[in-house]
Amino acid sequence: MKPVMVVAGTRPEVIKLAPVIEWLKRLNVDYVFIWSGQHYDYLLSGVFFEEFGLSEPDVDLRVGSGSHAEQTASIMLGLERVIRDYSPSIIVAEGDTNTVLASALVAAKCLTPFAHIEAGLRSWSMVMPEEVNRRVADAIASLHFAPTKLAAINLLFEGVSSRSIRLTGNTIVDVIHKFTDKIRDLDDSVLSRYSLERYSFILVTLHRAENTDNPERLESILKALDELSQFYPVVFPAHPRTRSAIAKFDLSDYLSRVRLMDPLGYLEFLALLVNCRVVLTDSGGVQEEAFTLKIPTVTLRYNTERPETTLYGINVLAGAEKDRIIKSVLMQVERYEEIRRLRFENPLGDGQAGKRIAHLLSDAIEAGLTIEEPDLRETPVIEYWLLSEKENKENFKKSLFDLLAAFDEYGKPALLGENASRLLVRIKGRFDDKDSSDSK
Ligand code: UD1
Ligand code: UDP
Repeated sequence: MKPVMVVAGTRPEVIKLAPVIEWLKRLNVDYVFIWSGQHYDYLLSGVFFEEFGLSEPDVDLRVGSGSHAEQTASIMLGLERVIRDYSPSIIVAEGDTNTVLASALVAAKCLTPFAHIEAGLRSWSMVMPEEVNRRVADAIASLHFAPTKLAAINLLFEGVSSRSIRLTGNTIVDVIHKFTDKIRDLDDSVLSRYSLERYSFILVTLHRAENTDNPERLESILKALDELSQFYPVVFPAHPRTRSAIAKFDLSDYLSRVRLMDPLGYLEFLALLVNCRVVLTDSGGVQEEAFTLKIPTVTLRYNTERPETTLYGINVLAGAEKDRIIKSVLMQVERYEEIRRLRFENPLGDGQAGKRIAHLLSDAIEAGLTIEEPDLRETPVIEYWLLSEKENKENFKKSLFDLLAAFDEYGKPALLGENASRLLVRIKGRFDDKDSSDSK
């Protein structure tokens, strides 16, 4: 059987793909693991392979850093070669990096189905390179593994067929469940290594282009850290991108009291996260982890593709203005106990996402998921139809249509069966190469 091709290239992709790889192994699904080399420093790559017990990738494309176009193009060129070598059944990638964008594009051009893990996240900010990447990936994907209900809804509203969407949960929850015990044993040593006291320090991560490439924003954030460090220890394991931006814009004076350090390994970072009072971040993964662990969060952004974290009262979007950041942090410091006591079912996942995704990939291979030329000779040109429920009944039985929306006799939106008289439907087959709805 042709292998699944798993593609990754950055720190968060190792972390979030680890549960999927573990389950592909357990289910004896043949796979190859391709590393793009977008991240190459040991502290952004190798350390995570070790901590997650992953073997060396089958191929390292070693693309390194560059402009978006350079990096994406290098990954595309490299991937095209390895796709020729391995002729994978499905190409799978996770998240929203340039590695994901390149994987989706090459998969499409090589007529190989692309499966997108973490599909449907939307920040609605097209200035964010990641938003562009995830939208392109979702437009191309044959299988959309949506981590949350909101992500699935985003996809449906963009016209993605419900037949390609699977609600899987986010694999970061699997990771947190797996590592919770391990960090408990490590807590004390990590805290004493950094001379920190439980629940009394602020943890910071910062690397988004919108913050690091904009000197005014970066300065404003660093000023906030400087002020906060008068009251609390501020621990800042910095991404190399941020380090170089601080140097380039000559802003290191703001960091005299801040405990700036190299990026940490996963266990150490998580040990600090569970013990901090508040985490300040612009990271996607850290927002999810802090939410899952119920750690008060202040996000240094104006929007988030993880809105569940704010809706449940754990995360506050502060943006990059100094005063607002400080105010938000002080508020979250006060809310610490309240947030820790919150009880709810985690909307991000149940810890079984890796298993689910591996099963779904295996099912899709077995069902022979392919990209084929649709035969539309018998189908009309119109893609969207408004039909009466009566008109549509027969067609629905034959499963020719995807229901998009229902309206009552007054033209108002209605639920199906609840006086729905007109249905907006889309003809299946125009967009769907193959019905994979049988797979679980
Ligand atoms: C990338 C992703 C981002 C993700 C982040 C995870 C894109 C567009 N961005 O951002 O979505 O959240 O990874 O951390 O794909 N560098 C090093 N060593 C390395 C890697 C990078 O020093 O091993 C430095 C280089 O100066 C490089 C800069 O960091 O130019 C940016 O790296 P890059 O991979 O382009 O983007 P990230 O900011 O890491
Ligand atoms: N992380 C880590 N060490 C650090 C900072 C972050 O292990 O010093 C982990 C963090 O726990 C999370 C992931 O890296 O799982 C997030 O990566 P990043 O913020 O680089 O990317 P994003 O999630 O924003 O794409």
